[in-house]
Order: sequence, then C-alpha cells, then structure tokens
Amino acid sequence: MPKYFDIHSHLNFGDYDKDWDEVIGRMRETGTYTIVVGTDYESSKRAVELAERYPEIYACIGIHPVDSPLPTLPLIRGGQGWGELVKHPKVVAIGECGMDFFHQDKERDFERQKKLFLEQIDFALAHDKPIMIHARDAYPEILEILETEFPLGNSVSKLRGNVHFFAGDLVTAKRFLKLGFTLSFTGVITFARNYDEVIRSVPLESIMVETDAPYVAPVPYRGKRNEPSYVVEVAKKLAEIRGEDPERVRAALVSNALSMIM
Ligand code: NI
Repeated sequence: MPKYFDIHSHLNFGDYDKDWDEVIGRMRETGTYTIVVGTDYESSKRAVELAERYPEIYACIGIHPVDSPLPTLPLIRGGQGWGELVKHPKVVAIGECGMDFFHQDKERDFERQKKLFLEQIDFALAHDKPIMIHARDAYPEILEILETEFPLGNSVSKLRGNVHFFAGDLVTAKRFLKLGFTLSFTGVITFARNYDEVIRSVPLESIMVETDAPYVAPVPYRGKRNEPSYVVEVAKKLAEIRGEDPERVRAALVSNALSMIM
C-alpha cells in the first residue's frame, strides 16, 4: 500500500539517468508510488517499460499537444504500437493530452490540437481509461469541447480523467468537477498562494497531488530537479491550506489516486 501517490511524473525523461537508483530508493523510503506520463510514443513506451519493472510505477500513454516536432494525425487509433502499449495491465490512463496556447498560436494551431485531443479521448473511451489533461492557456477551449461533446458528465459518457497541474480559478474548477474530472496540484502550491481558494473550496475526493517531475520542485527543493518522493511536501501543504489533519488528507489522496488507477 503506497503512503504517497504522485499521479504525474516524467521519470521516463533522461534527467534521472545518472542517479536512478537513488531516486527509486527515496521513493521506497517514503512509500511513494507514481504514474509516469508519456508525451510521445517513445516516452510512452519507456513509461510502460518502467511500470513493468517497478511495482511502484504505473504508466500513462499519449501525446502532448505541443511536443516538438508538432504531432499530427493519424497517430493513435490506427497506430499498431499504441494498440499494443495500451493492453499492458499497468497502463492506467491516456495522456498527457489536451491543448496549449501558451507555446503555440491559437489561430494557427487550434484545429490540429483539437483533432489530436479528440482522437485521444476516443482512444481512452475505446479502452475504458481515464484521460490525463494538459491545459495551458486553454481552459475555456478544453471545457467547451468537453461540455459540447460530453454534456452529461462521466456517468453517461464514461469519459473521466484528471486535469493535471491545475492552475485555474474556482469557476473553472467547478466546471471540470461537474463533468466528473478530478484536479491535481503540484509543488507550485508550496510557494504560490493563487490556488488556495480552489484547494479549500473543492471536495477532497476531487483532489490529487503530483510533482510533474523533473519540473517545478516544491519548497524546500525549489530550483532543483524534482522527483516523485517530493510529493510528500505537496500533500503536507495541501492539508495545511485546507486546515485539515495531515494524516487524514494523506490517506484520502492515496485512495483518490488508487481509484483512478483501478
Ligand atoms: Ni507533464
């Protein structure tokens, strides 16, 4: 049974090559599990390989909206490799998929990103998996797609998932919750106060924690390479912001993560 669950990390990236055993060692010391998230085919395959080797690692496979070079269709539905990867029992979600108009121009790139996102939603539904959403400067666009295509929420559509690295306001948060999505928070909550209202206002059952390692390490590791065991700091801060018992919050966060991977 995990003690902490980092639902979004990139241990599949090259950042961990030099001290891999230490990183895994710190996960074991803290009882931390993680979902390793792919951003293209190669990194998704690597995530599955890691999940195969380590009991505390699960995999999420998919295509980041603005990976470089920019991905185009058809990538997933017709792609043999993806069809094989998704059958692995430790593949627990599809993504990270979504939209990003911070890194790409909306006018020029909207249609491509929308198709790529919808294709991954179809793939997730076909294999009964949740999606892991990446959204940057794109909450209104993503919500419009989801609310138009799946207006009745996940009890009817079966589409479910998590909004990774949630950085929106309370109105945005509530729209995602209404569709049956959960929100996850990163180390950013240890040093920025912008999300406290959302964190206090949404039900604990709808919240997950993640590191998005190697990016955005929490205090006291800020500025260093991030890693899954640091999710302990995110979980502690979340309990503090909510004014709730840290042990109760820790246990709830683990059970929320387990409900996503079962
Ligand atoms: Ni990520």
